[in-house]
Amino acid sequence: MLAKWFYEAKHTVVLTGAGMSTESGLADFRSALDGMWNEYDPLLFASRDAMTYERELFVRFYKNRIEKLQSAMPHEGYYYLSEWEKSGHISSILTQNIDGFHKKAGSKNVAEMHGTLCEVYCDDCGEAFENAHFLNDDNICDCGGFKRPGVVLFGEPLPMSAIHLAKQETRKADLFIVLGSSLSVSPANLFPVEAKRHGARVIIVNDEETKYDTMADLVINRKIKDVLTELAEEKG
Ligand code: APR
Repeated sequence: MLAKWFYEAKHTVVLTGAGMSTESGLADFRSALDGMWNEYDPLLFASRDAMTYERELFVRFYKNRIEKLQSAMPHEGYYYLSEWEKSGHISSILTQNIDGFHKKAGSKNVAEMHGTLCEVYCDDCGEAFENAHFLNDDNICDCGGFKRPGVVLFGEPLPMSAIHLAKQETRKADLFIVLGSSLSVSPANLFPVEAKRHGARVIIVNDEETKYDTMADLVINRKIKDVLTELAEEKG
């Protein structure tokens, strides 16, 4: 059913979450067993308050995440998605992930709704820097501002350009596929609902159930890499 709907769709939008990168060795946030938030309180580490009042903890937390990211690579599922963009089977990818893997694997039309860990920028003047500055504790800008990771922290607004692209794409979708998200965080979790409202079919591929399963047209509780590999073979 996934292959039939996927290969006949005219405008497919894919929404990815942390479950897209666990098979690249990066922990997700809410998996029952080893989700990151089981170990760290997001509001204590991944928030604007943490950056302001717990600077030491904040820096240690994000240095660790950047280092983990630098030793990980997009798995083959990412490359299927970028191939399908080239062949016209995928129009855009809306991602909650900050690992930059979709772009690394060649996808072009990507809305990074929660920012990216692949660069840092000055919180005051906005100048962008390589991650090395943050990793080497060179994190005070010439203007005096703090060079912080390019991720959206809890308590911060999402990047308007990414959200605008996500809204536009969601309205045009006739197929909306969720890959590896518990759909716990808004506004990302509103896009499947919006797509459905505009007449799209919604497919959720996720290891565990989500609270949006009942409104999906198809739910596949399997590993993403296997599902994408089989989908690619169907076309072959
Ligand atoms: N295949 C399929 N599903 C998987 C796989 C896999 N290999 N690995 C994990 N999953 C599923 C988990 O079962 C879980 O339901 O992916 C989902 C990931 O959900 P979360 O950990 O909540 O991640 P996500 O939905 O991306 O979180 C959204 O929350 O903390 C914020 O900013 C953070 O972007 C993040 C947002």
